[in-house]
Amino acid sequence: MDYMEAMASRRSRYALTKTLPLPLADAEALIRRAAELTPDAFNMRSARAVIVSGEKQDALWDGIYTVFGGKVPREKIDGFRAACGTVLYFIDTDVVRTMQERVPRYAENFPVWAQQAGGMLQYSVWTALSAAGIGANLQHYNPVIDDMVRMFCGTPPSWQLTAQMPFGGTAAPAAVKEGETVSDRVWTLC
Ligand SMILES: Cc1cc2nc3c(=O)[nH]c(=O)nc-3n(C[C@H](O)[C@H](O)[C@H](O)COP(=O)(O)O)c2cc1C
Repeated sequence: MDYMEAMASRRSRYALTKTLPLPLADAEALIRRAAELTPDAFNMRSARAVIVSGEKQDALWDGIYTVFGGKVPREKIDGFRAACGTVLYFIDTDVVRTMQERVPRYAENFPVWAQQAGGMLQYSVWTALSAAGIGANLQHYNPVIDDMVRMFCGTPPSWQLTAQMPFGGTAAPAAVKEGETVSDRVWTLC
């Protein structure tokens, strides 16, 4: 699959299963490789990820349901719980602070760049998984779940949770997406 095809194959897929089309270890290797290949400002490498799977996957989503105290529908959480795993994304704020001290001229930019690089990582992983036939979607239950996730994963206090990406086998096609006139958003000047 070439890169454009891989991008076209990536969609938000919510009907996910625990059965991947390849071994979980291979999917984890794809995620690690995507992290190696994704750029960051000043090459600061502020993005972090934790891949949760197996019994931990079920426990994670049960924990998220509990933190919300029933305010999120059980069926919705169960949809994410049914996935094979979840990639939790973080920014290491210690890295950002160190860069701010080292390059004070750009101090205000580093937190923004860290968010942008985190988004790039999320997209890289999402697309790489899709190219391998693995479905995924992107969730944002942070910051409500931050403390629970920190205790669950044992991540340092400096790791700020930014997104959750359930991934798994695909049980249903993605929803039909409305077309657009992309030239409204992408101009050409020559
Ligand atoms: C930055 C960002 C945040 C998103 N947050 C959520 C989210 O919290 N929950 C969710 O279900 N989808 C979320 N999405 C998925 C978008 O709704 C989805 O990508 C968009 O509607 C286009 O559909 P597609 O992914 O199928 O191409 C997010 C996507 C992006 C890029």
